[in-house]
Amino acid sequence: MGAVVAVSRWLHFCGIAVLLGSIFYGRVVAQDLIPRFKPWAYTAIGAILASGIANVLSKPSIPPHYYAWLGIKILLALHVFGVAAFYRGKPQSLTGALIVGALILGISEVLRYMSLP
Ligand code: HEM
Repeated sequence: MGAVVAVSRWLHFCGIAVLLGSIFYGRVVAQDLIPRFKPWAYTAIGAILASGIANVLSKPSIPPHYYAWLGIKILLALHVFGVAAFYRGKPQSLTGALIVGALILGISEVLRYMSLP
């Protein structure tokens, strides 16, 4: 694995840790997302998007069905991004984002498994 790919995977994981970790804390512990989280949510979303695109571009070859799973993953990711960015005090929306977030983690493993040499 090249250094650039390693850094981009690292950035992807940092963004995911901040975004999903904060949504988990907001839903389970504090039962709310306080407004101070917003700038961090935008930063995490930016980092996840930029590093996700870099991850796609760094693939030496794309196996069959890879883009189908990636498309599903990106649509689900948009849901999580939307809930974090437009949160208006409904903790149930955080529950949905957590479930979808867990699904995305599973789909990411499928993507990884498909593209192993
Ligand atoms: C909440 C949103 C997201 C989560 C939780 C997430 C999670 C993950 C995880 C855990 C991995 C590592 C899988 C592994 O190596 O075992 C991964 C890899 C990856 N992610 Fe994401 N991701 C998200 C959003 C995105 C977005 C928006 C894109 C594309 C624009 C993207 C593109 C990728 C790609 C291409 C890989 C590499 C997969 C492979 O090795 O073939 N991700 N993601």
